Amino acid sequence: MSEKIWGGRFSEETNLDVEKFTSSLQDDIHLFKADILATKAHLHQLRDKAIVTHEEAENLEGVLDQLQKERDNGTFIPDDKLEDIHMNIEKYLTDKLGDTGKKIHTGRSRNDQVVTAFKLTILNRVDTVILLLKELLVSLINKAEQNKDVVMPGYTHLQKAQPIRASLYFLAYHEMFLRDLEKLKFFKKFLREVPLGAGALAGSPYGIDRFKIAEELNMRQPTANSLDSVADRDYVLDILYCLNSIMLHFSRLSEDMIIWTSEEFGFVKLSDAYTTGSSIMPQKKNPDVYELTRGKTGRVVGSLIGMITTLKSLPMGYNRDLQEDKHLFFEAVDTVEQVLRVNIGCLNTLEFNRELLSDKINKGYLLATDIADYLVLKGMPFREAHSVVGKIVRYCEDSHKDLVVLSYDEFRQFSDLFCDDILSKLNVFCSVDSRDSYGGTSLKSIETQIDNARLNMAENKGV
Ligand code: ARG
Repeated sequence: MSEKIWGGRFSEETNLDVEKFTSSLQDDIHLFKADILATKAHLHQLRDKAIVTHEEAENLEGVLDQLQKERDNGTFIPDDKLEDIHMNIEKYLTDKLGDTGKKIHTGRSRNDQVVTAFKLTILNRVDTVILLLKELLVSLINKAEQNKDVVMPGYTHLQKAQPIRASLYFLAYHEMFLRDLEKLKFFKKFLREVPLGAGALAGSPYGIDRFKIAEELNMRQPTANSLDSVADRDYVLDILYCLNSIMLHFSRLSEDMIIWTSEEFGFVKLSDAYTTGSSIMPQKKNPDVYELTRGKTGRVVGSLIGMITTLKSLPMGYNRDLQEDKHLFFEAVDTVEQVLRVNIGCLNTLEFNRELLSDKINKGYLLATDIADYLVLKGMPFREAHSVVGKIVRYCEDSHKDLVVLSYDEFRQFSDLFCDDILSKLNVFCSVDSRDSYGGTSLKSIETQIDNARLNMAENKGV
């Protein structure tokens, strides 16, 4: 007969390859702490319903505590042959307490047990991501504050468009990552529904009070349907989507930084501590952190696609395919945590090349729209103004001049509406400060955005 916990109906030992193939220990070892907590909550129900005596419950709880200590000091070595961490914990109880240990799995299945431990673990990891996101959001506000006086080209189609304050850029990312934070907080709602007591699929006898379990585990409520409890992995998808959103934002930011730190752009300097060199070219200082951030985005996208693919076409109920969920989640969350930590440091230490920017900002017709706006204020319809300025730009191109060096007489060749104040308008600070609509790039609008962002962070305490 098989020696497995479930070996009763088996007459042969499990094939060794199958044993390895079906084990999830490498991944669900990370559920250890959560499984001990959930096992205790389950145990308290067994005690309250007199399935185990008070003395047995105390013994079981004591052994669970002892096991946690052994895990903490590294003396507990789980056995791969036992399939997963849940079976390892049960085996430990049985080895220590014999028949009393054998009672722990009464009224519970690994199907509800695994989801419970997984949800608790995900919640924990999500909270770490939330705290790191908050740190990042503060860094972005600080960067916006420090660079209020830096004006840089804003781009559309990666072509120079209009001047913006560098703060506008950082505050744009603040908005993006703030939405990620809000999404994560929202999706905790579903994670906080606890399946324990759903059994294998049909619920459990013995009068287990699932509401008490939810309370003890600090969850919102028990899941409403026992079958959904064990079949559902939407909560993994939700969080994977949020993690993907974070990575997509980082990947786009990385792309900007990789371009901006190139000699051709030279807008930004990274600190030596956050760059690496080349083994052959002594002059190199490479933005590897940003390249790897962009590169690692693929893994996190892979986890989401992997999870969607795993769930697609699964019949209702628990299927072993679902065991794949943990690896996919941990791969994604480990990556995002690492990316957050290193990117916060990189962001905090990067600096703008102010001199170079103040020179570059006057090249590339960035003020063309401002000249059209000028003509509109003098009474010309915008579409006509657009066409007049188009001709001025063409003239500049043909005569190899920048807009900012044109003389009053040259402007007059294109329209009588130009007065001598046009020359004083050809200034990037005038341009940015004219864009004072709510959320715009004027100093006033930027300061409002910074104030609002700081206020929001102050109110957005906790996880
Ligand atoms: N390690 C498995 C998992 O994570 C345990 C569930 C096994 N359940 C079962 N009915 N065989 O999914």
